[in-house]
Amino acid sequence: MDFVVKLMFTLILALIASLSMEVVVGARSDWQWSNKYNKLNLLESGDLVINLPGQPKVDFQHHAGYVTVDEKNGRALFYWFYEASTLPDEKPLVLWLNGGDKKLFVPGPGCSSVGYGATQEIGPFIVDTDGHPLKLNPYAWNTEANMLFLESPVGVGFSYSNTTTDYDNLGDDFTANDAYTFLYKWFLKFPSYRSRIFYVAGESYAGKYVPELAELILDKNKDPTLLINLKGILLGNPETCDAEDWKGLVDYAWSHAVVSDETHETIRMSCDFNSNNTWSNNDCSQAVDEVLRQYKEIDIYSLYTSVCIGNSTSSGGSEQDIIASNMPRIMGGYDPCLDEYATTYYNRPDVQKALHVSNGDHLKNWSICNMKIFDDWSDSKESVLPIYKKLIAAGLRIWVYSGDTDGRVPVLSTRYSLSSLGLPITRAWRPWYHKKQVGGWLQEYEGLTFATFRGAGHAVPIFKPSESLAFFSSFLRGESPPFKRY
Ligand SMILES: *[C@@H]1O[C@H](CO)[C@@H](O)[C@H](O)[C@H]1NC(C)=O
Ligand SMILES: *[C@@H]1O[C@H](CO)[C@@H](O)[C@H](O)[C@H]1NC(C)=O
Ligand SMILES: *[C@@H]1O[C@H](CO)[C@@H](O)[C@H](O)[C@H]1NC(C)=O
Ligand SMILES: *[C@@H]1O[C@H](CO)[C@@H](O)[C@H](O)[C@H]1NC(C)=O
Repeated sequence: MDFVVKLMFTLILALIASLSMEVVVGARSDWQWSNKYNKLNLLESGDLVINLPGQPKVDFQHHAGYVTVDEKNGRALFYWFYEASTLPDEKPLVLWLNGGDKKLFVPGPGCSSVGYGATQEIGPFIVDTDGHPLKLNPYAWNTEANMLFLESPVGVGFSYSNTTTDYDNLGDDFTANDAYTFLYKWFLKFPSYRSRIFYVAGESYAGKYVPELAELILDKNKDPTLLINLKGILLGNPETCDAEDWKGLVDYAWSHAVVSDETHETIRMSCDFNSNNTWSNNDCSQAVDEVLRQYKEIDIYSLYTSVCIGNSTSSGGSEQDIIASNMPRIMGGYDPCLDEYATTYYNRPDVQKALHVSNGDHLKNWSICNMKIFDDWSDSKESVLPIYKKLIAAGLRIWVYSGDTDGRVPVLSTRYSLSSLGLPITRAWRPWYHKKQVGGWLQEYEGLTFATFRGAGHAVPIFKPSESLAFFSSFLRGESPPFKRY
């Protein structure tokens, strides 16, 4: 009997598979059909990635390609989507965004979510040395959720515009609007995710992008036909409020022995980070330059690890390069040269072809950060704290975490920002544990959870992959990470 039912089921599935998409849409009300429909649809998107060079074998599907966000100007954003490795139909959808990142010494946008998030931090395939271009990440976040990585805005990574003047208009609002249009159109490509529980996550300058996009989604959700099932946001070492971020940066540099007492005292006396013209005070700008000068000697994003002495023109002198080629670069499990591997990998013709970026002949020039975008950025919100208030009022889950060895958006900046929100504390400061060790400290506020990661740099999951995955899982469940060692 059981066998007959299974056989009938299989036959019906086969029949549905042979029918047009419209018919399948009609069958969607039944969840079993919707599962099948999901699979069919993923194939239909035409973006399924097969034969990605060097890719380890996996059981889940992944998709990459462009979504046009403006037909008239020819603007297209590149995405890479990894289905959850198990039970993708039951798991939420998470959009991940990176912002400005390495090599930028002042706040700003322009770096790739594919180059950082997907292939250095939380994606299933981590870039590795040239001989083995990709290795499997056992702590990939797609073990817990369906993960969507977006290169945003145009000019970042593979994302582009055919209208050069678009690049003159880039800014926070432009980015949020294009990301929203992207989501709208992406859901047309992958309709089975349309009503899925949805989160937006990101780090660094995405500290601005993520709340801005969340606010736009909430506004658009007033029209029920546009509803996106947004439940919360997750932010790592996020740029939040320029004044508090600067104050935290200089205090952290001083308290971590990067600059002298004298330099810090000059900053304390002469810098008004709340003013519009902070840098017109000479004493202030010279003292802050001194902070950045000291930071250029080390990795501002990870104070206690080595810098990459590789082949990149941006690092070291030529003498150093020669020494470096013969030096083991992986120290303490952390390889500071991942940016270079990523750049080599994404500029390969066979890789670009597999990711539906180019036909393999006319290559796109991929770089991990686009400095020009960064320089030309015209609209940056000074603070997204007012948006936090709005999101909290709307009942969204907001979790903010901070790697405590980052000097760029240090834990102090985040604490100053959150403290200025003045939220009531619901559970006082305490350690949280992972595998019987302190992962970091945690404080819960009404409407917001803040956690530190002990010994992690700016891109936390690179340094603490297992802790990060456990923390991500806690976030998705809405349950605090363990407060007890056992
Ligand atoms: C941009 O221009 C190229 C070359 O004409 C074209 O192939 C591509 O489809 C255009 N992109 C968009 C998003 O319209
Ligand atoms: C600072 O900028 C704000 C907003 O742009 C403006 O309203 C204010 O007048 C400016 N203050 C000064 C002192 O320039
Ligand atoms: C640096 O260059 C050498 C020789 O060209 C090459 O073998 C090596 O893989 C390169 N390293 C990186 C990090 O790109
Ligand atoms: C690719 O981009 C890099 C960095 O922006 C630039 O230096 C290089 O000249 C570009 N190459 C080409 C072929 O456009």
